[in-house]
Amino acid sequence: MVLAIALITLASGCDWREAHQWDETERRELTSLSLAALEPLAANPTNSVGDSERAQILGHRLFFEPRMSANNAVSCASCHQPERRFTDGVEVSVGLGLTRRNAPSLIGIAYSPWLYWDGRKDSLWSQALEPLEAANEHGSHRLHVALLMYEPDYQPAYEEVFARLPASLLGLKEKALRAAPQHHEDWAAQWSALAPDNRTLVNQIFANVGKAIAAYERLLRPGVSRFDRYVAAIVADDSKLASDMMSVKEAEGLKTFIGVGECTQCHNGPLLTNNSFHNTGLLSVPGATPDVGRIQGLHELQVDEFNCLGAYVDSTEACDELRFVKTGRELLGAMRTPSLRNLQGTAPFGHAGQFADLAAVLAHYNTALDAMVGHNEAKPLDLWPWQLEQLEAFLRTLAAPPAVDEKWLQNPHFLTR
Ligand code: HEC
Ligand code: HEC
Repeated sequence: MVLAIALITLASGCDWREAHQWDETERRELTSLSLAALEPLAANPTNSVGDSERAQILGHRLFFEPRMSANNAVSCASCHQPERRFTDGVEVSVGLGLTRRNAPSLIGIAYSPWLYWDGRKDSLWSQALEPLEAANEHGSHRLHVALLMYEPDYQPAYEEVFARLPASLLGLKEKALRAAPQHHEDWAAQWSALAPDNRTLVNQIFANVGKAIAAYERLLRPGVSRFDRYVAAIVADDSKLASDMMSVKEAEGLKTFIGVGECTQCHNGPLLTNNSFHNTGLLSVPGATPDVGRIQGLHELQVDEFNCLGAYVDSTEACDELRFVKTGRELLGAMRTPSLRNLQGTAPFGHAGQFADLAAVLAHYNTALDAMVGHNEAKPLDLWPWQLEQLEAFLRTLAAPPAVDEKWLQNPHFLTR
């Protein structure tokens, strides 16, 4: 009996020590994944108000503004809900209609050079313009959005951040026009009928709305997780603290994550994403045509009038990402590697919400079936069920409340209306 207890103690003791044992190379890798390694968020030269406090306040209001939508009911926050880490809890989002993708979390998104699962936008501000005019999201048009800035509750705030609103557009207000270049045939006709100067002015205000929203989104930063505290303890050689921060099971999962699981091939750096596009053989939604991902996204990005090389940027000095963008057949069916810091409360997972939970994601990687389009880069892992459980337990240690002041998570209109 005594011997048995001694053996168990010895066995678990070994386990304990081994699980928290990391060699020099592993320690370097862990450090590179820690939030402490995250660089300060660089300014985005295309958006000169990206870090202006007034723009943040204006953007906060716009993010929660249902009046930008066709039915006065949809706002960005309808699908990006702060209490769900800026996701919506459904497989594919629903605005005025059904979209075909899952709403990603926006925490830490300002660090990403590409936006959307297929990277069809190259700045936060240009991204913000698309849902406003998408028929299945806000279903609105840019003239409506621009004219909203002339309303008494927006004009002063807008003009404090940007220039004075041009008087020449005011006349359009009475005409109740619906004008946008895409999406709707008659809206496009009304758009073409506008004077070219007015079209440019509308586009400028529309772009500025995006720039204010982007200033707000730049505030949404990830918080320090249990994993980050664990790494700090390992680096400080404090194995007692390390074992308080992570269980043996979680540490074993971390070993798999950086080891035989080869997850860090794509989920690397402090946000656990390499910010590039990969085909992981994800099944499309039954009944839907297979999603070609980055191939299509790249095409849309290159012809987008609001891209980094377009007329509405504040500078084109930092457009090398777009100038030298990676192309090639391997982008067929490829999606942007998502950060793994926002897994808590953001199920379902995958670009179309194909996975109800983390166990389902890991089961997918374990078998890595052939892709429906293109080629699946992920190899079958053939891990044991208990290894998958450890991996899942580790993924949960990445969760943390966002490092965002509570006021930015509230709907500002509840206070002012
Ligand atoms: C109807 C629901 C809906 C509305 C409304 C909506 N979004 Fe989204 N959002 C999504 C979905 C779905 C995606 C992913 C779409 C894709 O990749 O094709 C997305 C993607 C994004 C992304 C890119 C995230 C990433 O990981 O690449 C950002 C940023 C974003 N939305 C911000 C906004 C802003 C700002 C607004 C308001 C102007 C807004 N969204 C309105 C559903 C919505
Ligand atoms: C070849 C690159 C690559 C490898 C290797 C890889 N991932 Fe991914 N991961 C991705 C991409 C790309 C997506 C998005 C796929 C999609 O939705 O089409 C993703 C999605 C995920 C998601 C869903 C996140 C969300 O918000 O929807 C999780 C969780 C995940 N990966 C964990 C892992 C783990 C754990 C491993 C190691 C076993 C791993 N990944 C290996 C690229 C990779």
